[in-house]
Amino acid sequence: MAKLWAGRTDGTTDQLADDFNSSIRFDHKLYRHDITGSMAHAAMLGAQGIITKDEAAQLIDGLQGVLDDLESGALTFDMTCEDIHMFVEQVLTERLGAVGKKLHTARSRNDQVALDLRMYLRDEVAEIITLTEELLEAITAQAEIGKAAILPGYTHLQRAQPITFGHHLMAYAMMLLRDRDRLADCRRRMNCSPIGCCALAGTTYPTDRRFEAAQLGFDDICRNSLDGVSDRDFCVELLSDLSILMMHLSRFSEEVILWSSWEFKFIELSDAFTTGSSIMPQKKNPDMAELVRGKTGRVYGDLMAALTMLKGLPLAYNKDMQEDKEGVFDAVETVKMCLQVFTGMIATMRLCTDNMRRAAQTGFINATDLADWMVAHGLPFRDAYKISGQLVARCIADGLVLETLPLSVYREYSELFDESVFEAIDLDACVERRISEGGTSVSSVEAQITYVKEMLAI
Ligand code: ARG
Repeated sequence: MAKLWAGRTDGTTDQLADDFNSSIRFDHKLYRHDITGSMAHAAMLGAQGIITKDEAAQLIDGLQGVLDDLESGALTFDMTCEDIHMFVEQVLTERLGAVGKKLHTARSRNDQVALDLRMYLRDEVAEIITLTEELLEAITAQAEIGKAAILPGYTHLQRAQPITFGHHLMAYAMMLLRDRDRLADCRRRMNCSPIGCCALAGTTYPTDRRFEAAQLGFDDICRNSLDGVSDRDFCVELLSDLSILMMHLSRFSEEVILWSSWEFKFIELSDAFTTGSSIMPQKKNPDMAELVRGKTGRVYGDLMAALTMLKGLPLAYNKDMQEDKEGVFDAVETVKMCLQVFTGMIATMRLCTDNMRRAAQTGFINATDLADWMVAHGLPFRDAYKISGQLVARCIADGLVLETLPLSVYREYSELFDESVFEAIDLDACVERRISEGGTSVSSVEAQITYVKEMLAI
């Protein structure tokens, strides 16, 4: 097919080169933003007298027609076109004749594609923010349910100290809140208009970049035209933020997988978010969590690909940059799916609080509290720590736990012990005493839930 850019060359290219060069099979996703951007461009050209007001009106009408027909399905993408920008311009020119050819005055595909991608991604980021907030709501609802459910808190995956399930869940809420804020910040920096940078050097036409930026809802314009057309920081930044978000979901997934194993059984996932085995009838697999964990690698890969693609590029636009889109689209789609599935999985899981408590009753997770009791009765912490350790060893030897070890045995290790030690090592008391801000007591967890709700304004 003859190219719109035929001129210096006759525009006939090898079929293989055409296919290799073409990006319409993935950048057609940008059609709505491309057309909206072009409407603002036509309006600016008209307002500045670069084309007549009537021509601008014809272009805007024509573009609206292309948009409507694409939305209704009356018009389909021509996959032999080089990219979405060429496709829209080609259809417009077919429909309007000579006026259609005026649209591309005072712009280049270099600033056009940068504009489209920023507009597309700022909408997607807004959607991802909403989905993150929905997950946060599901987490806080479950945290409310499990705010007094005691289970072991772990370090090194060894039982460490008693905590509540609500406390554990709210740790993830804090991570996701940071993710939400990082995304909002990324969107703010992304919302800067490159249109009018043209190919690289700006233009001789009396354009008004700020008019176009304002029409399209941008907060600012890119201040250097070379940077405007070659900056893909907004892609890298978004991919970084999405990678961090996925890292959080992946860690959470790992715990969901552990918790739903028979060894833990702290939670039961709903049938709707698990799968069976084709051979083992007893199986109920946490596939959703495993897939989220698996897809995390893919989003990291998208980030690495973008960073690597950009690292050796001289200014300004280089065709390498066409490779920005598939990775960022893939990451956006992946994260949106993961967030939705994750929210469903968390909202429908059932807490097995008896199993949590049973696990908390073994493992001597009140040994720190035992040491603290001795400190409160005058012993230096190091001595108390040692005696507590010796008592744990004694329990293991006698097949007992600290709660069932007789007071007479305690007193073999220190004269200080009396009956009140048993109140101090009671699991509920251990949790309830941890009232420090951010701690695991029910009131501290309630404060965390309130904080997150405030941040979400729900
Ligand atoms: N399809 C191209 C891309 O995605 C559009 C920009 C083309 N610019 C150019 N000078 N060939 O990057």
